[in-house]
Amino acid sequence: MSTHDMTADDWWRDAVVYQVYPRSFADSDGDGIGDIPGLIDRLDYLADLGVDAIWASPFYTSPLHDGGYDVADYRSVDPRLGTLADVDRLIEQAHARGIRVIMDIVPNHTSSEHAWFQELATTEPGSPEWDRFVIREGRGPDREEPPNNWRSVFHGRGWSHVRDGAGEPTGYWYLHLFDTTQPDLNWENPEVRAEFVDILRFWFDRGIDGFRIDVAHGLVKEEGLPDFDYTVPDDQKHQAMFDEDSAHAPFWDQDGVHEIYREWRRVANEYSPTRIFCGETWVPNPVRLARYQRPDELHTSFNFDYLQAGWDGKAMRMSVDETVANHAAVEAPPTWVLSNHDVIRHRTRLAPVDAHGDPDLERGLRRARAATLFTLALPGSMYLYQGEELGLPEVTDLDPAVRQDPAWHRSGGTDGLRDGCRVPLPWSGAVPSFGFGPTANSWLPQPADWADLSVEAETGVEDSTLELYRRALHLRRAETALGEGPFAWLDGPGDDPTDLLAAVRTPDDGLSVISVLNLADAPAVLPAEWGTEVLLASSDDVAVLDVHEGPAALAVGSETAVWLRRPMTEP
Ligand code: GLC
Repeated sequence: MSTHDMTADDWWRDAVVYQVYPRSFADSDGDGIGDIPGLIDRLDYLADLGVDAIWASPFYTSPLHDGGYDVADYRSVDPRLGTLADVDRLIEQAHARGIRVIMDIVPNHTSSEHAWFQELATTEPGSPEWDRFVIREGRGPDREEPPNNWRSVFHGRGWSHVRDGAGEPTGYWYLHLFDTTQPDLNWENPEVRAEFVDILRFWFDRGIDGFRIDVAHGLVKEEGLPDFDYTVPDDQKHQAMFDEDSAHAPFWDQDGVHEIYREWRRVANEYSPTRIFCGETWVPNPVRLARYQRPDELHTSFNFDYLQAGWDGKAMRMSVDETVANHAAVEAPPTWVLSNHDVIRHRTRLAPVDAHGDPDLERGLRRARAATLFTLALPGSMYLYQGEELGLPEVTDLDPAVRQDPAWHRSGGTDGLRDGCRVPLPWSGAVPSFGFGPTANSWLPQPADWADLSVEAETGVEDSTLELYRRALHLRRAETALGEGPFAWLDGPGDDPTDLLAAVRTPDDGLSVISVLNLADAPAVLPAEWGTEVLLASSDDVAVLDVHEGPAALAVGSETAVWLRRPMTEP
């Protein structure tokens, strides 16, 4: 079970990890950009919420062309976000509260402002400096065509001209699977591999507990960089964000990537307590995903298959089954996640839409609370994204002028809507910045009606989403010991087994729990043998029915999840 023992090696197996997007979490100096001192100031809030660890999105020195996922220097902190001394203090203060700190490492690409990329302008093709990136001569008589047909995930070409010292285009092109300011590194080059091992050690030595690995499935490219057939059909089981089937794409999920993680694992294992990795692995299905969790590779990876299942009992159940089975085969715990800084917040994503396509956010919140409670009772660890504990919706009406997502600009405004989940958090007060910082500034504007969704507004309010999360995390850790351990489906009462999902969890050292998710838009009466002792429910729409003859049964409202204490069985 989760533990506050900071020397433990296995805490990650069932941890609740809270993702901090530093620019949007808390701003200490009033410039409208969240920072590390702001995060340190709020550690008591996170301890009180009951999280086991935080994962902080990048805070390295960066031109912020992709929110910091464009790193100019992997061994420094962006001055707008803090200093190395602040990070040391963060680690120390978090650890003092029993909270681990996971950083984000971005190994697929650097920023074009990284010293290595800058050196291209003063060196020659064929030099060791050029071998650090994926650079090829252009095609066609004047080398005016890119080396192959790969596209950027953020739209448009995946290649741009290398420029000379005078800024003139050369006949050489560099690969960028993301923005033009994010040149892909050449992972065939031992110097690149050694550099990243050194960066891992730099932060591990400072006391960081682990890394989330950005685009972990992308580092190795197929030999010869063959063209990709972009007409490969969808099969509903792919990445939401990257629209290529990664089983086919010559730039995703190549077998060679696993060797890199074997080397990284050896480094992590040298530390005590052992340092851990969580991969951002957008792979097409749970079978491919589990390969990253083999015992000598990454500890965990994000399970986006489950995130993509939506509000659909059949898809959720199938994803849980495949994920649990495939992870068991490699003896690794699954992870679960419903929101992050790249996807639409799950309150909005799960909401039913009306005829005009507008989401019903009240029902969206009801569903989101239910989905979270049910997911927190699945076996393994769980990632939460800042603000979901407040029930924040996606901000869908940002003015194009304030949007920063590079994919928004590269797609001409048809894609790249990720700023909508990155709006700074509301902490207190009636007007923006709602306590985000000491001034009204926030790098993205907050909706005027977020006062009711602030930490202050929800604290101590019985039915608030914040109090639901708090109770769920404390129960999960303290009494029920949910996390790793046996998991089995129960047959529900209705004809359609996917209208109501129910599972029993029996941890070694906690309460035996039945977790129920009623996805239907009508109430359900549970089998009497499941008992009526409700530990926690996502709505107050839960009632014990008086049955004339026989034992009482529980009625669970529409779109509601409950955790029940499983009745003791007869000896
Ligand atoms: C990952 C990050 C995303 C970023 C991309 C490129 O998917 O989560 O925010 O834009 O990688 O680094």
